[in-house]
Amino acid sequence: MKKLIVANWKMNPASQRDAEYLFGLVKKGVAELKEVQVVICPPFVFLPFLKGLILGAQNVFYKESGAFTGEISPSQLIDLEVEYVIVGHSEARKYLNESDELINKKIKECLKEKLIPILCVGENTGEEKSVVLEKQITEGLKDVYHEHAKKVVVAYEPVWAIGTGKNCSIKETVSSISLIKKVISNLYSSEVADNVRILYGGSVNSENSCFYIKETGVNGLLVGGASLDAQEFIKIVKSAI
Ligand code: PGA
Repeated sequence: MKKLIVANWKMNPASQRDAEYLFGLVKKGVAELKEVQVVICPPFVFLPFLKGLILGAQNVFYKESGAFTGEISPSQLIDLEVEYVIVGHSEARKYLNESDELINKKIKECLKEKLIPILCVGENTGEEKSVVLEKQITEGLKDVYHEHAKKVVVAYEPVWAIGTGKNCSIKETVSSISLIKKVISNLYSSEVADNVRILYGGSVNSENSCFYIKETGVNGLLVGGASLDAQEFIKIVKSAI
């Protein structure tokens, strides 16, 4: 299985020109690296202008069309050749009050439309990790049947590690990955758990990325801040070879 390195640009950069420039640098830098799958998740508004790498969106709505002001549907994303969608990011859970129930609806709609959801899960400081992961995965995948569940990507992103420079230790990451696999295995089967790709995210940079790749058993990384620096991001991608 190829390693999957996902760039989450969040609400950056400020202009289309800057987005095209950053994308162009990354595209050039990873062009020869066929052993890794690179996905760029820019803000919606830049999606139509970026071509030549796999695209992901940072969110989606769960309806096909209609009176849902401000929302974007899975089929609209498909029309822009988007393949992946980040769902349930902790910032959407926090600032947009996204619940596990809403996240579940989005995941089901994505899978119906053949978009691959990247379900973000992770505990906040002071929360019991195993309880949070079990709840977010079980409720996020409710009524998602086996064949669809296999396609889901789960990103373990402890909230306290996001954008703080305090990346999760290798030991903690290993234990989280095995917890996630156990929850999926209990919900479905060990075969499904082996197919679901699991990423780590939270203050990943070019100095720590290789340790996650080589020592934790993750299938890839979800990179926020460091993905806005083309050279830094390219180094992260190279560390996954
Ligand atoms: P970070 O963000 O790499 O800036 O910590 C990761 C994320 O929010 O996906």
